[in-house]
Amino acid sequence: MGLTRAKVPLDVIVVGVGLGGVAAALTLGLRGHNVIVLESAPKLMEVGAGIQVSPNMLTLLDRWGVSPSIHARDVSLERIHIRRWQNGQLLGTMPVNKTHGQQVVIHRADLHKSLADSALALPNVELRINSTVSGVTFSPVSVSLTTGTVITGDVVIAADGIKSTVRGHLLGDGSSSPIPTGDAAYRITLPRSTMERDPDLKRLIDEPAATRWIGPARHIVAYPLRKHELFNVVLVHPDRRGVGECWTTRSPKQSMVDDYCGWDPVVTKLIGLVSEEEVPEWKLCLHRPLKTWTRGCVALMGDACHPMLPYIAQGTAQAVEDAAALGILLSSISTRSEIPLALKVYEKSRKRRAETVQQSGSDNRITLHLPDGPQQEARDKQFRACRLGGTNPDRWSDPEMQQYLWGWDAEKAALQAWDERRGRVLREMRHRL
Ligand SMILES: Cc1cc2nc3c(=O)[nH]c(=O)nc-3n(C[C@H](O)[C@H](O)[C@H](O)COP(=O)(O)OP(=O)(O)OC[C@H]3O[C@@H](n4cnc5c(N)ncnc54)[C@H](O)[C@@H]3O)c2cc1C
Ligand SMILES: *[C@@H]1O[C@H](CO)[C@@H](O)[C@H](O)[C@H]1NC(C)=O
Ligand SMILES: *[C@@H]1O[C@H](CO)[C@@H](O)[C@H](O)[C@H]1NC(C)=O
Repeated sequence: MGLTRAKVPLDVIVVGVGLGGVAAALTLGLRGHNVIVLESAPKLMEVGAGIQVSPNMLTLLDRWGVSPSIHARDVSLERIHIRRWQNGQLLGTMPVNKTHGQQVVIHRADLHKSLADSALALPNVELRINSTVSGVTFSPVSVSLTTGTVITGDVVIAADGIKSTVRGHLLGDGSSSPIPTGDAAYRITLPRSTMERDPDLKRLIDEPAATRWIGPARHIVAYPLRKHELFNVVLVHPDRRGVGECWTTRSPKQSMVDDYCGWDPVVTKLIGLVSEEEVPEWKLCLHRPLKTWTRGCVALMGDACHPMLPYIAQGTAQAVEDAAALGILLSSISTRSEIPLALKVYEKSRKRRAETVQQSGSDNRITLHLPDGPQQEARDKQFRACRLGGTNPDRWSDPEMQQYLWGWDAEKAALQAWDERRGRVLREMRHRL
């Protein structure tokens, strides 16, 4: 699918330059729209550690020309290992099915830089940092900044994350505030030099594989990054700090040691390599599905409308799919008056999909975190059996789920929804004549 240029180039305001916002700026910019991206932070920076670029995201990045810079720094996974928490016993290994394309892992900063470099190289994409949006009007559309500056445009895309300001204005109530899920995650990255000395750890960083250790109320995901120069470990555990703000913070290393006491000695060794006294800890939050994602010429995307647990590695992929759908739909309209229709079709093509994926992440939490006992034994038996082709209890490594997650083409789905909707509108008009 080539990139359709916009029939009517629009003035687009994107709020937030996280991975979702930068993807939207890129695809809209490539199609010829004039994009202003407003970001509250004083500089461009993507925090965090590793991220999985699943085939459904990679297909889109391919079309937008960013794959070469991604492949310069990624690792392409061949296998996913599932291990028991206590002794590291291998419960199952799923080969990555490349029918849908590669499953690569990359540092978030590298992915963000690839997207931002491509987007900001376009003459029609402008980034304004230090720009915090505090208000939005819906007709005509404009956003106001905390400084009082008002910026007008044809359409506003709110990619302002789980604590979205625009969401509250759009829904007009507080029903969508983020809710802590009860889980939090430590995220560590280890340099190759620290792992090379130990044969077990060297094998881990050398193998193009992701490993999941699963245990009661906890699990760990680990994989190599940056051409095997770094090793990424995400450790999910019950959030000890109770309710409160959704944040990313730093915790004493000792809490991580305590959380994984008695786990596979390989895990203990990995944790032992952390040199800092504090590790980044990320509190996992969600909010309930929203009644709508759009109002007039304003649309929400990414974590602003469907934050998800990272347990099937689709948070960013779903934001990039949103960007893709918006890109193609806003380039398909023939007059500005069709913007609200295009946004409705965007919601139609995206909401059910993203909410299904969101729910799978939540369901997977239950499966992965079973306490030891009969249910866990049955699950582990299923893991062993799925080598012979059964359903995999881990939704992320299950072939049927992968077909749904990875085989999706968000641009195609959006166009299909547009054609259906347009067909209906035309039929209704003819009917009325
Ligand atoms: C700190 C952090 C770490 C994460 N780590 C992981 C991970 O390891 N793995 C994973 O799968 N997912 C992770 N996620 C979730 C993942 O980043 C998102 O699912 C995905 O990247 C889509 O995000 P987004 O672009 O919609 O929102 P975000 O990445 O949250 O970006 C929102 C952007 O909007 C800006 N912004 C917010 N409010 C305003 C405003 N009023 N005006 C202007 N700008 C504003 C913010 O500064 C930010 O740059 C993380 C999220 C965060 C915030
Ligand atoms: C953004 O704000 C920071 C401090 O808050 C300031 O140092 C910097 O110069 C500002 N940058 C721009 C481009 O306004
Ligand atoms: C890979 O996935 C495709 C599409 O879902 C399927 O037809 C094929 O049998 C799978 N291959 C293997 C080896 O599982």
